[in-house]
Amino acid sequence: MKPKIVTIIGARPQFIKAAALSPILRKSFDEILIHTGQHYDLNMSEIFFEEFKLPTPNYHLGVGSMKSTIQIAEMIKGIDEILIIEQPSHVLVMGDTNSTLAGTIATIKNNIGLSHIEAGLRSYVKNMPEEQNRVLTTVMADLLFCPTKKAVDVVRNMGVKENIYNVGDVMMDLIKKNENRITTNIPITLKKYGVENNGYLFLTIHRAVNTDSKNRIERILRVVSNTGMKVIFPIHPRTKKSIESNKLNRYLENENIITTNPLDWLSTQSLISASKFVLTDSGGVTREAYFHHKPGLLLNSQTEWTETVEEGWNTVCDINEDLILKTLSSWATPATHTNCLGNGDAASKILNILENKLC
Ligand code: UD1
Repeated sequence: MKPKIVTIIGARPQFIKAAALSPILRKSFDEILIHTGQHYDLNMSEIFFEEFKLPTPNYHLGVGSMKSTIQIAEMIKGIDEILIIEQPSHVLVMGDTNSTLAGTIATIKNNIGLSHIEAGLRSYVKNMPEEQNRVLTTVMADLLFCPTKKAVDVVRNMGVKENIYNVGDVMMDLIKKNENRITTNIPITLKKYGVENNGYLFLTIHRAVNTDSKNRIERILRVVSNTGMKVIFPIHPRTKKSIESNKLNRYLENENIITTNPLDWLSTQSLISASKFVLTDSGGVTREAYFHHKPGLLLNSQTEWTETVEEGWNTVCDINEDLILKTLSSWATPATHTNCLGNGDAASKILNILENKLC
């Protein structure tokens, strides 16, 4: 009989990571999938289950959006009940969302072994929700799967002494596996949005630091409307609410700005890959710009993915309008691209380690 593991997912980036991991893990483990319901819109959740033919979650907690402390408490309660029923030998959590933290607390309080996938990313910004979630998870997990060598050092510096592995980024696995599909899909997607290859900016905004500040989100929208370039802007639900409540819709009326609902994974990769520049505050899109050898302008005051900045592919612009415009006008292709985020075999490496530890 295969050992039983529980994987906890709940937010968009976790569905994407599960798409890379789940089929591999199921070779040796009986995987029980718990969806917390943190993301619930069709194009924030179900779309990825269809796109990647992800197994239907064994449990769906349907928690939804609410004040984060209450949301996390509801998730802990739901996960706790399932862990008691399922009695898994191990639990996997990924990244840094509220679902990650809830999974961590429920697991350690039941004295079950815990793996943290994507450990060792730090912003050192203490009031950032993701920083709180990942720090607490990393220090409590038993097995730490890091995407880079630097992340391993970060985990060591947090006082964790053993079971730290540099496996690469599972998101790179998906890109490698789907390279041909992305290439074939590019002309179709460009035609759909009426843009030329290398002729537009790809913009995403969703971090609380930007969406919760009228000043910050307005400055971002103002600068992108002043570039004179076409902009493709898939709008996250929280960003949509912020634009509406702050009465900033006029920026979206600019004929150069093409807005869409949140996109499926393949369209996103195709649009990043064919863009001229990527402007984002998302950690996932930061890496995807790097994977596709595209210059990224990061709309945060720092990044967890410092290697991509050191190589020159990404630039931390924050909301500095002059720096954004200067980077767009004077950017030069860096001399090197070291694939510092892995080779696309992270899921197999994680499987090997879990087999050694648990089988
Ligand atoms: C969460 C993660 C973030 C991750 C992001 C990916 C936390 C603290 N943050 O941020 O690390 O990068 O997911 O998208 O967990 N909403 C909807 N429909 C949905 C989901 C959200 O309308 O399906 C709206 C709700 O108003 C909600 C808001 O978006 O309150 C924020 O959602 P939430 O899951 O709290 O955070 P994200 O910004 O999505």
